[in-house]
This record gives sequence, C-alpha cells and structure tokens, in this order.
Amino acid sequence: MGEVLTRMAGDRSTRDDLIAVLGRAPDLLKPVAFAFDHRLAEWGACARGVYWRNEDGQKLRFEVLARVLEGDAGPFTVNDLGCGYGAFFDFLEPRLGDRLARFAGTDIAPAMIAEARARIADPRAVFVRGLAAGEDADYSFASGTFNMCLEAKPAEWIDYVETSLAHLYGRSRRALAFNMLTGSDKVRQGLYYANPERFIAFCQGIGARVQFATDYPLDEWTIFARR
Ligand SMILES: C[S@@+](CC[C@H](N)C(=O)[O-])C[C@H]1O[C@@H](n2cnc3c(N)ncnc32)[C@H](O)[C@@H]1O
Repeated sequence: MGEVLTRMAGDRSTRDDLIAVLGRAPDLLKPVAFAFDHRLAEWGACARGVYWRNEDGQKLRFEVLARVLEGDAGPFTVNDLGCGYGAFFDFLEPRLGDRLARFAGTDIAPAMIAEARARIADPRAVFVRGLAAGEDADYSFASGTFNMCLEAKPAEWIDYVETSLAHLYGRSRRALAFNMLTGSDKVRQGLYYANPERFIAFCQGIGARVQFATDYPLDEWTIFARR
C-alpha cells in the first residue's frame, strides 16, 4: 500500500485513484461524523463542541501548526481538512490579514459545515462537506482530524489515515501540517494513538521533507511535511 501511495501522491494524474481509495472510507467515517454532529448540538461552536478539552489547547495546536507558515510573506491559500465549525479560520484570519488569500475547510460532519458557513461570511472562506480536500492549496492542515477512530479496526484505520494524508499532501503545493495523539498520558477507547516514527517514515516515503514537533505541553505531536 505504502508504495502505491508514494507513486500516487507524487503523480497528480492518478489523483482519481486515490479518491477511489478514499471512496471506501464513508462507512468507516459515518459513526465519526455522527459523533461530531451530536457533540456540536450539545456544546455549540466551542472547543468542547469538537471534543477538545478547552480553548487553550485548541489554540496551542493552531499555533504549532501555523509554524509551517513562518517566513512566507504570502499571499497563500489554505486547506483545512476536518475544519469543524471553522475555528482555524478564526485563528488565522486576524494573524495573517491579507497574507491569507483563500481558506477551504472540509468536514465530514454536516452540522459542522452548516455552523462554519453560518458563522463565517468572509469571501475568502469556503466550507464544504466531504472527506477529502476538493482543491489544491499552498498549505494544508489537519488538526485532530484522525483522532477519533471509534470501532474501526486498527489496520483499516491506519490504511485510511495514510491514504487521506497522501491525498492531502498531493493537494498541497508547499506543505502539509497535521497533529495526532501520542497516548502516553491516558488512553481512551475509540481514540487513535499514533506512532510518530511511523508517520515520519510515511511522509518521507511520499517524498516530503519532514519536521517534527513535540515541544508543547499536550499529549500529541505535529508533523510538517514540506515539498
Ligand atoms: C477534533 S475535531 C477538530 C476540529 C478543528 N480542526 C478544530 O481543531 O477546531 C475533528 C474534526 O474532523 C472531522 N473529520 C474527521 N475525519 C474527517 C475526514 N476524513 N474528513 C473531513 N473531516 C473529518 C470531524 O467531523 C471533526 O469536525
């Protein structure tokens, strides 16, 4: 699988093949979308509404992810896979101003997309329901997107996550940045705790220059996969 993905991620003409692999993911992701929609209905558009513990942690994740933009005067475009109610746009917009040319958020949960659209009227922002980015961008991000696996079998989940990452990297002109849980703190059922070495090797395998960050006080890590 890894070899196939390496070839696919490097060759945009085979993007349709990747989408076909992702096409088998909806069954896997249906319970995840349901859980997030339910959570939003319960808590509203706030960190707890996307299963984060609090706003400080959500913001810290964004700060770490946004390191990938340092030194780029812009303007640039952004993909956010697993955008939830659009909190990353809220974070980036005041910090980047005109450097942000476009922000395309994608989420599997319909209520998240409805909420993002209702909250954010900025013409640079679009929010689309889906499980893969529908357009190319200079930078792509995924914050917490792969954390909740629920009943998925581990091998099946890893296969899906790697396919999704390869697709998103294929959509990214400059870099992809994403985070995952380490689980060295407290392990909870239904969450996916990822081995960072595995994903560093995976990103190198699809041709990325990889930087790794774990220097922040959350039980997580972040990978920057640059071209
Ligand atoms: C932990 S929440 C984080 C939301 C947002 N990134 C933030 O930090 O505020 C994860 C989000 O990813 C979405 N999600 C999970 N898997 C996805 C996929 N394959 N494609 C698109 N969205 C996905 C969920 O519906 C949920 O809104």
